[in-house]
Amino acid sequence: MESTPLPTNRAASHPVSVAPMMERTDRHYRVFMRGITKHTLLYTEMVVAQAVRHGPRDRLLGFDAVEHPISLQLGGDDPALLAEASKIAEDLGYDEVNLNVGCPSSRVQSGNFGVCLMGDPDRVADCIEAMRSAVSIPVTCKHRIGFDEIDKYEDMQRFVARVAQTGCDRFTVHARKAWLQGLSPKDNRNIPPLRYDDVYRLKQEFPNLVVEINGGLRVADIQSQLTKVDAVMLGRVAWDDPYSFVTVDADIYGDDSPTLSREEVVRRYLPYAEDRLTMGHRISHVVKPMLGLFAGEVGARLWRRQLTEGGNKRTESLTEIVETALSAVHSAQARFAESTAARAQAATIADIEHGS
Ligand SMILES: Cc1cc2nc3c(=O)[nH]c(=O)nc-3n(C[C@H](O)[C@H](O)[C@H](O)COP(=O)(O)O)c2cc1C
Repeated sequence: MESTPLPTNRAASHPVSVAPMMERTDRHYRVFMRGITKHTLLYTEMVVAQAVRHGPRDRLLGFDAVEHPISLQLGGDDPALLAEASKIAEDLGYDEVNLNVGCPSSRVQSGNFGVCLMGDPDRVADCIEAMRSAVSIPVTCKHRIGFDEIDKYEDMQRFVARVAQTGCDRFTVHARKAWLQGLSPKDNRNIPPLRYDDVYRLKQEFPNLVVEINGGLRVADIQSQLTKVDAVMLGRVAWDDPYSFVTVDADIYGDDSPTLSREEVVRRYLPYAEDRLTMGHRISHVVKPMLGLFAGEVGARLWRRQLTEGGNKRTESLTEIVETALSAVHSAQARFAESTAARAQAATIADIEHGS
């Protein structure tokens, strides 16, 4: 496929990313994903800045070298705490830190951060300024179109203009507003309508900023989005159908090295996964990233079931559980291919018998 020229040259390093997702984009998922795409920028789950200071650092922030390029997403509204957390991230080797100005959950609201900070652009600018002064890695911002009544294009435009005064030059826009009352975080990812045009307009009005679009997109949309914005962030699809990213390195980054099959992806992940189990990580956590691997394929449900049940019973090693599940999928696929061939043969015979 022909690669599409980017609208600016500044985004070239990270035109595609996997969104930060709590309970999903943990270190196991990120290592697993690296078997599918080497170049896509990966985000952590959101980590609250306060927790970085006081919490178990390895559990919250630990990552493997293979996960680069990797960005730590921070939540918070205290410039000093965010600056401290950013410095720790830089020292640990993160490639970027990102401030969450998009989360609408009530827990996050009660801490006065996430999307409600869009109502206080000066505060966000103070936070990002402090973070930028503490580190030399990029500090970026993920936000929405707006929230509640602060939801006009002009509100977002003012927000971005103010935050960009700090020198922050990469903005990821989840292209829908959030309602702080009455909608759950899940509803807030589905119900408010997508407003991609607002994101395109932002790019046009701020040509020097790297504008990344997010919300409701799939891998097949990346090329066309890159004609209008600099980068594309995908969330749920990267969890539900991780293997759909297998074309990204070649199509977007021009890396023609051979890609791995689904089986190879799993087998590459297994030594890491077994290692983590011996270190005391929970099998359900280590297995979770693999569950969507066969999404859309024959045997997908069988695969999920076998992995989940095998993990619950835990009478075999993880490698055995996975090999058994792979055999079950292969058998299901072979049966399906046979029955498809038999149906095609029967249809041909019927056509001949009816003289067509
Ligand atoms: C389970 C889940 C957890 C999420 N956690 C975060 C988070 O920690 N930080 C954040 O900025 N966005 C979070 N999001 C929002 C995603 O980053 C993304 O903006 C949203 O899902 C829209 O993109 P999509 O339509 O491609 O999924 C989460 C989304 C999901 C589904």
